[in-house]
Amino acid sequence: MIKFQKKHKNIYIIIICVVFLQQIGRMFNIKKYREIQEILKKNTELCKIIAISKNHPKESVMEAIKLGVNIFGENRVMEAKKKFENIRSKYPKIELHLTGPLQSNKVKEAAAIFDVIHTLDREKIALEFSKYKDKIINKFFFVQINTGEEETKSGVYKKHLNDFINFCRKDIGLNIVGLMCIPPIDQDPRVHFEELKFLSKKYNCPQLSIGMSNDYEKAIEFDPTYIRLGTILFGNRN
Ligand SMILES: Cc1ncc(COP(=O)(O)O)c(C=O)c1O
Repeated sequence: MIKFQKKHKNIYIIIICVVFLQQIGRMFNIKKYREIQEILKKNTELCKIIAISKNHPKESVMEAIKLGVNIFGENRVMEAKKKFENIRSKYPKIELHLTGPLQSNKVKEAAAIFDVIHTLDREKIALEFSKYKDKIINKFFFVQINTGEEETKSGVYKKHLNDFINFCRKDIGLNIVGLMCIPPIDQDPRVHFEELKFLSKKYNCPQLSIGMSNDYEKAIEFDPTYIRLGTILFGNRN
């Protein structure tokens, strides 16, 4: 009997430890966030951190907001809507950025809830946005460039960039402010960031959206406008 109780006690202790560790894993890493903010202050003009909350629960977002974070990024429209709809009405200073690929049937909703679109990557999507003039009037667009020309990745190829930017700006009047890329996983990201910087000057798209948890330190060398950090701040995605 005593042996049985002891065994159960141990199981309870293990469960409590697992739940505790899960909670710690879920906490927003404010220490890291502030540390990176300090690095940005010293090394860049105006770079801001987008906290990528994709696949993280609303509770983690709320925790981050209470700690003073106010720029968030989501990759999917419906997930963002579900998570942020109430939050945005309660905290009007929150900025929400779309950092994932978009389907044309989600553009209307994306135009309604996001402030900045980082993933404009084809005419069909651009044209769809242009239908919602009243919604996009104060919005900012980044063109995603597929600098590694990877078939599995979204983004405009460099050879099409001139035509695409002209179409977006001159034909349909989108406010293109910058360029975004995700370098191939097996290559030196600096090569891609450098190329993006060159293209941003060439096409007068001065803002750069570069750098994720694994390569933000390298991105900082190119004076980005935004770095997009998920794992390093929120822990591993569910
Ligand atoms: C476009 C984009 N930027 C940034 C991130 C955040 O990546 P990480 O968790 O490596 O910081 C993601 C994550 O999916 C992403 O898709």
